[in-house]
Amino acid sequence: MNSLVIRPALPADFPAMWDIFRDVVAAGDTYAFDVDTPAAVAEAYWFGPGILSCVIEHKGAVVGMYKLCQNAVGRGNHVANASFMVSPRARGLGIGRLLGEHCLDAAREAGYLAMQFNYVVSSNAPAVALWESLGFQVVGTLPLAFRHARRGYVDALVMYRTLSDPASWPPPEH
Ligand SMILES: CC(C)(COP(=O)(O)OP(=O)(O)OC[C@H]1O[C@@H](n2cnc3c(N)ncnc32)[C@H](O)[C@@H]1OP(=O)(O)O)[C@@H](O)C(=O)NCCC(=O)NCCS
Repeated sequence: MNSLVIRPALPADFPAMWDIFRDVVAAGDTYAFDVDTPAAVAEAYWFGPGILSCVIEHKGAVVGMYKLCQNAVGRGNHVANASFMVSPRARGLGIGRLLGEHCLDAAREAGYLAMQFNYVVSSNAPAVALWESLGFQVVGTLPLAFRHARRGYVDALVMYRTLSDPASWPPPEH
């Protein structure tokens, strides 16, 4: 698609992000959030401390977003974590891939050495295929850890990739 712009999310973007968040959560098939998650919780999820969120705009309208943050504190803070949501009306058009690539670049720029997804629903075929095509591997399966709105209990996957050759990683500072 033409006229796609990825940029840091601003507080003024939240109403559009909230619409997408609610659509994604209402489907009950990809994220564990309750359908009645308050807006303030969603706002903190995207704009809390230490979080970099970016939105993607098509012709001036926000159609998707990602957030990048550390996956763990202290001795685990060289590993990033990220989340992605694309509006149901804008899926299958390459937006998720653009966001994924942008997020990987942003993580490298921020100094992260690896990225981990903790909770990819195993039945989420678009996500699993996208992350594998972007270099992630399934490193663990959490049996029946997600209660899918239509399928019942399904596995959740832990997916991981390094962001550069570990041989080139800087020596740990401490
Ligand atoms: C997962 C998600 C971000 C993908 O975004 P998208 O814009 O639809 O994805 P893209 O159009 O960029 O497609 C990327 C890849 O996904 C895969 N894919 C897309 N739709 C698919 C489908 N219906 N079935 C299987 N694979 C599919 C393909 O491998 C595609 O690769 P391609 O570029 O070779 O065609 C989006 O579906 C979404 O927001 N889902 C709800 C929230 C979610 O699941 N977030 C991720 C949680 S881990």
